[in-house]
Amino acid sequence: MKTNTKFTTAKLLLCIFTFLPLWNIVIGQNDKKENHVVWNEILNGVWKTKINNVPSFNLLSISNGKIRTNAINDMGEAKFPIDKSEIHSFTRNGKTFIRFPLAKGEEIYGLGLNFHHVKERGRIFRLHMDHYGGTDNGRTHAPVPFLVSSEGYGIFINAARYIDVNVGAAVSKDSKHPAIPKDRNTASDWTVMPYSDNLEFTIPEEGVEVIVFSGKNMMEVVQRFNLYCGGGVIPAKWGLGFMQRLKTLATEDDVKQEVKQFKENHFPLNMVGLEPGWHSKAYPCSFEWDKTRFPNPAELSKELKKDGYYLNLWFNPYLWPGSAIDKAVEPFVGDYTVWCGNVPDFTIPKAREAFKNFIKKHQVDIGISGFKADEVDGYDEWLWPDMATFPSGKSGEQMRQTFPNQVASAVDEVYREKNERTYGLVRGGQAGGVNLPFVIYSDYYSHRGFITALVNSGFCGVLWTPEARNSETAEEWVRRIQTACFSPMAMINAWQSGTKPWDFKEVYPYVQDVAFLRMRLLPYIYSTFSEYYFKGTPPFRAVNLEPSFTDQIGVIKTKLDDTKNPYKKDIVKDITDQYMMGNHILVAPFFAGDTTRQVVLPKGNWYDFYTGEYAGNGEIITIKATLDKIPLFVKDGSLIPMMPPVENTRDWKKNTPLEVRHYGTAEGVFYLYDDDGTSYDYEKGDYTIKELRYKKNKGSVKTIKKSPYWTYGKITWKQM
Ligand code: GAL
Repeated sequence: MKTNTKFTTAKLLLCIFTFLPLWNIVIGQNDKKENHVVWNEILNGVWKTKINNVPSFNLLSISNGKIRTNAINDMGEAKFPIDKSEIHSFTRNGKTFIRFPLAKGEEIYGLGLNFHHVKERGRIFRLHMDHYGGTDNGRTHAPVPFLVSSEGYGIFINAARYIDVNVGAAVSKDSKHPAIPKDRNTASDWTVMPYSDNLEFTIPEEGVEVIVFSGKNMMEVVQRFNLYCGGGVIPAKWGLGFMQRLKTLATEDDVKQEVKQFKENHFPLNMVGLEPGWHSKAYPCSFEWDKTRFPNPAELSKELKKDGYYLNLWFNPYLWPGSAIDKAVEPFVGDYTVWCGNVPDFTIPKAREAFKNFIKKHQVDIGISGFKADEVDGYDEWLWPDMATFPSGKSGEQMRQTFPNQVASAVDEVYREKNERTYGLVRGGQAGGVNLPFVIYSDYYSHRGFITALVNSGFCGVLWTPEARNSETAEEWVRRIQTACFSPMAMINAWQSGTKPWDFKEVYPYVQDVAFLRMRLLPYIYSTFSEYYFKGTPPFRAVNLEPSFTDQIGVIKTKLDDTKNPYKKDIVKDITDQYMMGNHILVAPFFAGDTTRQVVLPKGNWYDFYTGEYAGNGEIITIKATLDKIPLFVKDGSLIPMMPPVENTRDWKKNTPLEVRHYGTAEGVFYLYDDDGTSYDYEKGDYTIKELRYKKNKGSVKTIKKSPYWTYGKITWKQM
């Protein structure tokens, strides 16, 4: 008997030890560990926490931006913006979970380059680098894990992993404000989305770095985030002119012909983009010139540059097996191919240097001014799977989340090392991209979606272009060109269609007008970019970031419907189709088919850009479409510096006269920025800032920061 009892106890203990972990898995408690979150203020208004052991590789490891300590501290002190007692974190099954509270009525913005919505409360995301596929679910070209709250704070999860975010769409039982069940059969105020006060992140890693930003308003939060990631970039002056991308397989002669045609048709042109065809092999790429199409690329680029034209080269970073660049990078590539090409591990300095040296010798040193880094975002079937391995030991997931920045920063380094600015394109981006002179683009060709992406780009520290490729109608063409001209990169990407600006004859005068309007606005646009660098202010952004903006639009109640709306989902009204270009101009584009549109004007008096007529104040106005113009509204007291309508930035030179327009009645101040336009010397202080002031019908100019660089001559003031 005794032996038996002993045996039973031992057996029981064995059972407990064997099955307890299993039981824990069943009840979901396996190794759940509460995390004590400690927030350290690292800069004025910026707090960081490191939960558990944080991996050394994160989203900012690969971009070249340095934290802009002084610019952040100059913004002044701030209090921690969230109730710390309501932030909870635990780690379970190798994943870290962190929850923040959401207030009633609080709105959340950001979480990557979304194409349909701007307000994100009530949505769930898995932030995953990808080509945009039509749904705002986290799979996009720039899945940046940063959000901004209308309550004046921002959260950045600095992890190179696929991050799940639940923005007030889950109701936890331990909530301070539990949702009250309502009966849909009888309650008229039943809603499909019960109130949730949780903002939750799940990071598939045992440790994570989280950064919280504060601000007096949302704009300050975004500024702090951008400055933390390195501050915005100032493009080369030539980069702000017009870019035409030629059809694939274009030749040296086609390039010359194109430039000639632009001159003959009097259309602005600064950059010519070459699509697949300049490499001896493409998809995957050899990075060697095709001598049949480009017998003398050095001579061509020299000749073009003399006249103010800059060449930009398409590539995807997948290396043609056995090509010279492949041999140079070869030991440092992943174990999967893309388009049958080798995938460099750019996180390994030797691989990076080999790639950089190759493009430096064969392209950059012969005068190529920029690149278009394509296919770096995915489209699942064209990338490596998550189980892929890379020689640095980074996982397929870590590589995927950061690959666009890996490529863009390598290219950028080649130019920085020569103290030359570049300005190019990349089909993906991440946190840290703010400091890289690249603009994101997409194959997802929805015009409205393109504009919503432009609105959202300002919340994620990236630049975006609503490029024009082709159009079904002349009306669509002019509408698309209008928005391309009011974006970070004014571009036609005719890689497949070969479309030229003048192809839709009936609207050509309007197409021409808007392109020249962009050229006239270059002093304004360039100064706007300088604020991106100095203050982290996104040059293109949502009107919601206007300090005087108050949410005036609300919710539309909907009806239950058994096919279209089976859960009776109300529509949160969202401003997805208008944006700010700099501090003063509100852009409210028309899309093909529109005859009228509504424009939400933030508080303060707004005026029509073209006529100076009063448009409204803190209200929603309705305007009528005319084909010839993109609607623009200007804030009271704004000063808009404009130069003559040049075709190429080579004519934006010493003694360029300026017309400074003043709108409304308030006193106007504008800080006009200038530098050499091509080097990084502005980072060392080589730039000029002059204060333009307009008071009681009189304009004055005061030098704030002096340098030898000042392009402008006579200034004429114009009251609109
Ligand atoms: C696509 C890209 C287009 C164009 C094309 C050339 O991936 O998005 O802009 O470059 O490749 O093949």
